[in-house]
Amino acid sequence: MKALVLAGGAGTRLRPITHTSAKQLVPVANKPILFHVLESIAEVGIVEVGMVVGDTEDEVRAAVGDGSRFGLAVTYLRQSAPLGLAHAVVIARDYLGDEDFLMFLGDNVVFGGVGPAVERFREHRPDAQLLVTKVADPSAFGVAELDGDGRLLRLEEKPANPRSDLAMVGVYLFTPAVHTAVGAITPSERGELEITDAVQWLLVAGADVRVLEISGFWKDTGTVADILEVNRRMLEAVEPAVLGEVDAESRIVGRVRVEAGARVTGSTVVGPAIIGAGSVVSGSYVGPATSIAEHCTIRDSGIEGSIVLARSVFDGVRRVESSLVGRDVEVTAAPIVPLRHTLVIGDHGRVLLPPTTLGF
Ligand code: TTP
Repeated sequence: MKALVLAGGAGTRLRPITHTSAKQLVPVANKPILFHVLESIAEVGIVEVGMVVGDTEDEVRAAVGDGSRFGLAVTYLRQSAPLGLAHAVVIARDYLGDEDFLMFLGDNVVFGGVGPAVERFREHRPDAQLLVTKVADPSAFGVAELDGDGRLLRLEEKPANPRSDLAMVGVYLFTPAVHTAVGAITPSERGELEITDAVQWLLVAGADVRVLEISGFWKDTGTVADILEVNRRMLEAVEPAVLGEVDAESRIVGRVRVEAGARVTGSTVVGPAIIGAGSVVSGSYVGPATSIAEHCTIRDSGIEGSIVLARSVFDGVRRVESSLVGRDVEVTAAPIVPLRHTLVIGDHGRVLLPPTTLGF
């Protein structure tokens, strides 16, 4: 069995981060989401991985390489444009050959891995096997309708009136039967070849399509809020350790990891949190659910529930919450009164500021 990882796409909902960077490489608990995906694949004993890439191919290649670090052999498959999940299967046809495959969206996280799902597929070998999970707002997902015996009746992509609360997880198991389906369907209204349509096509053609409800937490990290939630949950599983330096004036509370070469002075860090290698936290408060990447500086500042990417600086800023901050960013206090904000923000940036008070 091979794996097909989808690491192309546009990532429009994560702009401006995705203007300069692949969304699958945004780190959660200081490790790219895509690495969590590759670890889940290696865990089930699959070695050969086809990696579908788009405009961010160079960056994905630089991060993943030949995959040997994960015990995998990665082959890159260039998709000319993000024309849909089923289109990714079309362009992978030659690579996949006549093998069964595990298709994994490169921005999806399944806590606890996909071992039981792959085992079940290997045991019964249906034409296709979907993973689903209960969600609060099914209309934002591909939704599966089952009959009383748990057999799949119908699939709908982002339905206005969902017939169930079972959302399709971004992990699929296919036999080569799917190649006929992706070749038979036409693009949807949004111009994409939808994997939902391919599976629905199989179903109508009488194929054996099975559904497995997963018990672990799953998240498609399409938006900033999703990424912050995954970060919080991942941090709860991080091994706490102080590998760097923490001075006597600092307080470390709860599950906190201070990586080698990081320095915490005169600060409070409340876990779950991680301070990346070479970062310096001084005179600051770092609150729960925060990941500070490598070589950042947090000085006289307060931050919580946030992700700060490599080499960024916070100086004299209180207090930052629920934020995703890119690489090499500087956030500093304005030196002048009256209160004013000076901004240098990329296209599609989003900033929340307090309303100005009369007189300023
Ligand atoms: P999506 O999140 O559905 O799409 P997107 O990445 O284009 O994001 P947005 O909707 O914010 O513009 O994609 C799911 C995963 O599949 C993600 O890892 C990107 C990848 N993908 C491809 O590799 N090729 C494609 O044609 C599409 C649509 C997605």
